[in-house]
Formats: sequence, C-alpha cells, structure tokens
Amino acid sequence: MKNEKLRYGLIGAGSNAIKKHLSNYLLIPDVELIAVGDVNIEQAKAVAEQYGADSFYQNYEEMIKLEKLDFVSVCTPNSLHADIAVYALEHGVHVHCEKPLAINGAEAQRIVHAKNRAKKKVMVGLNNRFTNEAAYLKKFIDAGHLGEIYKARAGWIRRSGIPGRGTWFTNKQVAGGGYD
Ligand SMILES: NC(=O)c1ccc[n+]([C@@H]2O[C@H](COP(=O)([O-])OP(=O)(O)OC[C@H]3O[C@@H](n4cnc5c(N)ncnc54)[C@H](O)[C@@H]3O)[C@@H](O)[C@H]2O)c1
Repeated sequence: MKNEKLRYGLIGAGSNAIKKHLSNYLLIPDVELIAVGDVNIEQAKAVAEQYGADSFYQNYEEMIKLEKLDFVSVCTPNSLHADIAVYALEHGVHVHCEKPLAINGAEAQRIVHAKNRAKKKVMVGLNNRFTNEAAYLKKFIDAGHLGEIYKARAGWIRRSGIPGRGTWFTNKQVAGGGYD
C-alpha cells in the first residue's frame, strides 16, 4: 500500500513538468508519484510509465477524486491554473502551481480564497527565489548588511528569445500575455 509517503499527482505532463517537477520531486524519498494527468492521454500514459506512476488520467478532476493525493503539481498552460488549483484545494489537496499563478489578479484571488477556506498550502513555482544567489542576497539583507533599503531595481533576462512563439505561450487568452 502506497500510503507512507506523500501521494503526488502531476497535472499537465509537458516539458516543464518533466524537466523540473518530476526530475526533482522524485529525488525526495518521502514523495511517491501516484498518478499523471494530461488532456493528451498518450502523453499522460507515457509519462506515467516512464516515471513509475500506477495510474494516468485524461481528466484531472477524476484523478483528484479517485487517488487520495496529498499534493499536485499544476503544470498546464496558464489559463487553466486557477480552475485546477481551486478544484484540488476544494478536495483537500495541497498545490504546487507553476508560474504565473494565474492569468490575472481575480483568478489569483480565487486560488487564495480557496486556499484559505481549505487551510491547505499553495506554492508558486517562483524558482529563481531559490537560486543560491537569491538566497545569499536575502540572507545578506536580513542580516542588515545593506542597511535600510529605500530603492530597488529589478530586471529580467531571457536567454532564448520569445518562448514558444506560435504556441499557447504567446496567446493572450491562454498565457495571460502575448498576442490576441
Ligand atoms: N518555473 C519556470 O521556470 C517555468 C519554465 C517553463 C514553464 N513554466 C510554466 O509551466 C507551465 C507549463 O509549461 P510547459 O512549458 O511545460 O508547457 P507544455 O505546453 O509543454 O505542457 C503543458 C501540458 O499541459 C497539458 N494540458 C493542457 N490542458 C490540460 C488539461 N485541461 N488538463 C491536463 N493537462 C493539460 C498539455 O497537453 C501539455 O502536455 C506553464 O504555466 C509555464 O508558464 C514555468
């Protein structure tokens, strides 16, 4: 019986899920991948088989209802994050949601309200906060070495141009930003 470890379900078995979520969660001895959900059932099946999950689903609602999961990764296109996260929370499941949390503030608020009602945790995949550089800088600030911070300047980098041009990544309705 797979009940001593945290029961993990993956929703949206695309490239980021495989590269980041599965490859790292499966390094944690207390985590067991129970099920994989993807609207593309062939993809769900292939990823479940490759990473040792017993079950795969096309419908994430069914997966959440049947599998008694402790937590899910939400790695679908952005416009689906809120519905999936809220559904998981309403069924007592913690959520690790990819960034962006949602496609607008109202959708993000829906997740926050559901989290508060469910008293469950939501973690957003803001992975750059956990780089050694960011963690070191935060420690340095917390220790007071920079004194009172009265101005901050933020920047961003993109190493490889516009991501996924022509895919959902640049479609405003799905990604939250991009082209109409
Ligand atoms: N944290 C980071 O650095 C980082 C990097 C890349 C992507 N992301 C985020 O990860 C998420 C996924 O990006 P990706 O590059 O893996 O995209 P992707 O297109 O490779 O994968 C998305 C997957 O979701 C599936 N899907 C679509 N609708 C679904 C549904 N209703 N139910 C279940 N599955 C469904 C698709 O079939 C696909 O397999 C996005 O939110 C993206 O912004 C974060």
